[in-house]
Amino acid sequence: VARLRAAGCVYAEDEAALLVAEAPTADALEAMVRRRVSGEPLEQVVGWAEFCGLRVAVEPGVFVPRRRTQLLVATAVARRPQVVVDLCCGTGAVALAVATELGRGVEVVAADVDPVAVRCARRNLDGVGTVVEGDLYAALPETLLGHVDVVVCNAPYVPTEAVALMPAEARDHEHRVALDGGADGVDVHRRVASGVRPWLAPGGSLVVETSEDQVPLTTAAFVAAGLAATVVRDESLDATAVVGVVAPDG
Ligand SMILES: C[S@@+](CC[C@H](N)C(=O)[O-])C[C@H]1O[C@@H](n2cnc3c(N)ncnc32)[C@H](O)[C@@H]1O
Repeated sequence: VARLRAAGCVYAEDEAALLVAEAPTADALEAMVRRRVSGEPLEQVVGWAEFCGLRVAVEPGVFVPRRRTQLLVATAVARRPQVVVDLCCGTGAVALAVATELGRGVEVVAADVDPVAVRCARRNLDGVGTVVEGDLYAALPETLLGHVDVVVCNAPYVPTEAVALMPAEARDHEHRVALDGGADGVDVHRRVASGVRPWLAPGGSLVVETSEDQVPLTTAAFVAAGLAATVVRDESLDATAVVGVVAPDG
């Protein structure tokens, strides 16, 4: 506890208890404490994170699923989709939670450009869904064209200059491709919005996480892509998402 506290861990007692519970041997515990003290996220050290009540495997370097992203899950599930694509899936946490909530019958495809994230997502989605690797829609099988009810996406949306201001846990231990959203943070949102239409089934929608500050930019990206956009906000999660459907005149 003292070593964790000295390293700046706010919940040193809780973290120490978790590390003791997770370490199979004293040597393993020492190695885990060293990793944590050197600033690695707790979830990467123990190898899992809790998300929507599920235990999600997290490999070193892969984005740790955040609590706020539960809003994407709730928003996607509320649309009762049969075919869901989790674009920029990271660990695959969103895909796993959506599939778990909707149960049998839902087809889930997750995609990421980072091979380490893809490997991690394959572990989490084993027997649940398919994970494909590549740049946004280029990763998806063409058989999905026109058949996707919901594209859900937590893309990187931190403006390039703000990445350096992020906590070291994120900056140093999550791959930069998971964080950097370009000059104003919404470069990937623009590409996700402009490419979505051929993939959507009639009445399908695009659900993208953003920040409160970036709502106007993300919404503008949707509108430029011919989507009618609605903003969803959950104060208790401090979470914001933009939902797009093909505009009647789009
Ligand atoms: C903010 S993380 C979110 C991960 C996951 N969706 C979650 O909420 O935990 C963004 C993810 O997008 C992936 N990514 C970034 N650019 C991408 C691209 N052009 N195509 C596919 N995936 C991309 C990163 O590798 C990273 O895993």
